[in-house]
Amino acid sequence: MPVKQPLLLLAATFVCVLFAKPTIAQMSAKRGDLTTGKNVYNEICFACHGVKGDGKGPSWFNTKPSPQVFINSVYMSRLTDEYMFNVVKYGKLAVLNRQIPNKKIDSLAMPAFGAVLEDNQIRELIKFERAFSKGGPQSAEMREIFEAACMVCHGKRGQGDGERASAIQPAPKYFVSDAQPSPMNLTDPQLMARFNDDFLFSLIKKGKIAAVMEDKFDTMQPFGQVLSDKEIWSVIRYVRETFVNSNKEKGYAAEKRK
Ligand code: HEC
Ligand code: HEC
Repeated sequence: MPVKQPLLLLAATFVCVLFAKPTIAQMSAKRGDLTTGKNVYNEICFACHGVKGDGKGPSWFNTKPSPQVFINSVYMSRLTDEYMFNVVKYGKLAVLNRQIPNKKIDSLAMPAFGAVLEDNQIRELIKFERAFSKGGPQSAEMREIFEAACMVCHGKRGQGDGERASAIQPAPKYFVSDAQPSPMNLTDPQLMARFNDDFLFSLIKKGKIAAVMEDKFDTMQPFGQVLSDKEIWSVIRYVRETFVNSNKEKGYAAEKRK
């Protein structure tokens, strides 16, 4: 009797652990762990994305376009956790090419316009886009082209809120800042500043996938070989809680007021 009871208890605990395990594992995987996330971030991600999440880590100038700015909460609010997980684990190119194993994803890459736009039109269009974030004059001719080619996704004012935007993951970027009250005045030039004209030219002419594959522009590389799923969820949680949420209210407020 005194021997059997502890055995029974042990068996009971074992059964509990067996049943409890998957749910606990799933939850902690989804939620991640902040300390782990912080460690991963400060070992790997900071190099490009910056200790402060401002996209200005020690290697930021090595990548074109430069790394994503995590403190831009309006941009970040358009990325789901699941999307970020796939980007970090499999790399962004795999996401854009819809090559994530065992998952159906509808992500849409920025399409190519080389077949419908002349090179000099593309150059003019880049100036037109920059004027969204800088508040300069925009030519009427380019407005026509923008509305015909880009508006369906990027929206009439370039805010990334075109008809097709909500169905798209990630949504097309905001181009506009001055239509947005503070803090968007600061943060949107920050987004456009990530891109140089050579990148924009390649992007519009060939589309995002070919800009990366043929013209060797950078995008987020896969980290699935070096990080476990748990570590990836953790670093996403760290990014959200440390960089995004602190600016979220202001970002959402700006979005509502527009
Ligand atoms: C070698 C530099 C580099 C490192 C290291 C790096 N990234 Fe990135 N990351 C980039 C670049 C460049 C982009 C912009 C990709 C683009 O615009 O296509 C980016 C974009 C992202 C995005 C946004 C994707 C999107 O579609 O906007 C997320 C999320 C991200 N990185 C997470 C991470 C995390 C988490 C880590 C650490 C595990 C990390 N990155 C490490 C360079 C890096
Ligand atoms: C079918 C929808 C669609 C159309 C039409 C479209 N875009 Fe995009 N665009 C996107 C998506 C989706 C992204 C986000 C790409 C990413 O994060 O990799 C994007 C991103 C961009 C970016 C940021 C680049 C980057 O790497 O994040 C620029 C600049 C841009 N588009 C310009 C344009 C211009 C100019 C036109 C018209 C000639 C246009 N787009 C038409 C969907 C579209």
